[in-house]
Amino acid sequence: MSNGWMRIGVDSEFGEKIKLVEIGKNKIAVARLQGELFAFSGLWPHVSGPMHRAEVEGTVVTCPFHAWRFDLKQGGREIHDYRPLSVYEVKVEEGEVHVKL
Ligand code: FES
Repeated sequence: MSNGWMRIGVDSEFGEKIKLVEIGKNKIAVARLQGELFAFSGLWPHVSGPMHRAEVEGTVVTCPFHAWRFDLKQGGREIHDYRPLSVYEVKVEEGEVHVKL
């Protein structure tokens, strides 16, 4: 697959727990929240904290270090006045999950 789409695994691999996937130098966090697959930066915009340790409530992820919060449903828009989180397009084709970087 091209045009920026990268295969990251099969649909059944991803659940509610945040899973980190590495594509080259990129760390991508993937989780199924409220029944929808989300792919987003595996590192926080703030000092690159580890996203897989985020607390999750609905589609909001909160960093355990300094409590920055982002709503994935809103495209990673921040709840507070901070930098946005990169959220990537996801599609599932024939059970395979692809992310657009
Ligand atoms: S490292 Fe996550 S908010 Fe500071």
